Amino acid sequence: MATSMIYLFVTILLVAAAHTAFAESNMLQDFCVADLNGEKVNGYPCKDPAQVTPDDFYFAGLANAATTTNPTMGSAVTSANVEKIPGLNTLGLSMSRVDYAPGGLNPPHLHPRASEAIFVLEGRLFVGFLTTTRKLISKHLNKGDVFVFPRGLLHFQQNPNNAPASVLAAFDSQNSGAQGVGPSLFGANPPIPDDLLAKAFYLETQEVQKIKGKFPAKK
Ligand code: GLV
Ligand code: MN
Repeated sequence: MATSMIYLFVTILLVAAAHTAFAESNMLQDFCVADLNGEKVNGYPCKDPAQVTPDDFYFAGLANAATTTNPTMGSAVTSANVEKIPGLNTLGLSMSRVDYAPGGLNPPHLHPRASEAIFVLEGRLFVGFLTTTRKLISKHLNKGDVFVFPRGLLHFQQNPNNAPASVLAAFDSQNSGAQGVGPSLFGANPPIPDDLLAKAFYLETQEVQKIKGKFPAKK
């Protein structure tokens, strides 16, 4: 049963990869392992094929549950994108693992460059995304379930249970990018003016400052 679910998920991954070979890149050679220190281009330049090793296509970092890096939210995202696996460069594909503490939340965010498919490794989750017409598409998921979040749409996952949960996520981009609603708006650098956010969200400026205090600006 578990094996057939994993086959299903791998099939979805392969279909996504085949599709996005056209969406993100058009392969002109076997691979283009990223030279992460090379010139800045759209993606990364290719490492000399003679220097390519199996480790360029390998990552062990999704094997174990991550400690919750966002203690307030109770979730941790571990990415396996081109920065971790240089061999993903130009393949239009990446993965991540998300771990959720009991009651944990991966708060509303979007990926500007990828659709996302999740496979529930453990536990139960309430997940959803919003359409551009503000319709909420949501579902309760169990272990082994798959759910898809279309590219660029706001989405979330919440662990409603008293036990940990985790998912494996697949993206049709080597570098999906992620924009969290709260951190982007209230932790921007330079900051978005308080009066602008106060008006946008029907808040008092003191309330805006309080919320900004929860999202320290990125350096
Ligand atoms: C989950 O939504 C993730 O982006 O990893
Ligand atoms: Mn996501």
